[in-house]
Amino acid sequence: MTIPMPLPVPPPVAIQPSMQVTDSQLSLYSELIYDRTGIRISAQKKTLLSNRVRRRLRETGIKDFGDYLNHLKQLRSNDPEWDAFLQEITTHETYLFRDETQWEWFCSYLKQRSSAAGQGKEPKRLRIWSAACSTGDEACTIACCIVSHLPSHKQWDIKILGTDIGIGAVKQAKQAVFGQRAMRLVPKNCMHCFQKSKDGHIWHAKPILTDMMSFRQHNLMDRVSESQFDIVFLKNVLIYFDATSKRQVIDNVQASIRPGGLLVAGAAEGVADMVKNYTRIQPWLFQRPRQ
Ligand SMILES: C[S@@+](CC[C@H](N)C(=O)[O-])C[C@H]1O[C@@H](n2cnc3c(N)ncnc32)[C@H](O)[C@@H]1O
Repeated sequence: MTIPMPLPVPPPVAIQPSMQVTDSQLSLYSELIYDRTGIRISAQKKTLLSNRVRRRLRETGIKDFGDYLNHLKQLRSNDPEWDAFLQEITTHETYLFRDETQWEWFCSYLKQRSSAAGQGKEPKRLRIWSAACSTGDEACTIACCIVSHLPSHKQWDIKILGTDIGIGAVKQAKQAVFGQRAMRLVPKNCMHCFQKSKDGHIWHAKPILTDMMSFRQHNLMDRVSESQFDIVFLKNVLIYFDATSKRQVIDNVQASIRPGGLLVAGAAEGVADMVKNYTRIQPWLFQRPRQ
């Protein structure tokens, strides 16, 4: 009997930290990313893109940018490597109570909804979507405002949906755990909604917040199945899109807002000309007509 020889183990791939995508690879990657996400990668982002893709090379053992690109192209769109790639190339910067003015507005909106519901003029029902929610900080901020400014919130039917294309971000959002940096702007009167870890570095959102929230993966280039949101928060994401993909996202989002409902955009998102037939209340706040 012959004893089979063990297969030779390939040597680990040495990836040079200085290695960059070439100009033609940059445009091929940009096209692929744009088709899938609506995000435009400009030529100035060459180093950033190279650094981010290099992490996928290291993880997969694929030796260069060209091979990795070909690998991605022949994968099905729901392959886990696509998820890992999209998670890597997107920017997930976020923190609780980001953009103070908008939260001040939201708290006054809640007071007005509370009084209208108290007079029987409006239902005790709230549907809110944090679109491109990253790690869930925005959705958690929405929940904090509800707890602090809607006194009878326990008698309301409230659902906050958080979605993001990044699977890792969504996974983290579901854990509802936040570090010190993310927590730095949380007002004192909301801190009772969080449990501090023993080492004091991490805060867990309590069920008073998490019971209202759910998270799932979603690409803004597609529509969501829900169609009756009172408010959609769409902040700090369309800055990465061009006019064509922005317009597609805005059309998708508008289709999900109920009559009289609101769109809260980031201040620098540049969507005012694209939000059709809505009343512009603030440069970042748009209302769908009631009829
Ligand atoms: C900078 S974060 C903004 C998070 C939060 N909205 C805020 O303002 O703090 C941008 C998020 O948009 C997500 N994103 C980018 N393109 C997307 C797309 N096509 N569909 C859904 N999410 C996307 C990214 O994964 C990232 O988590």
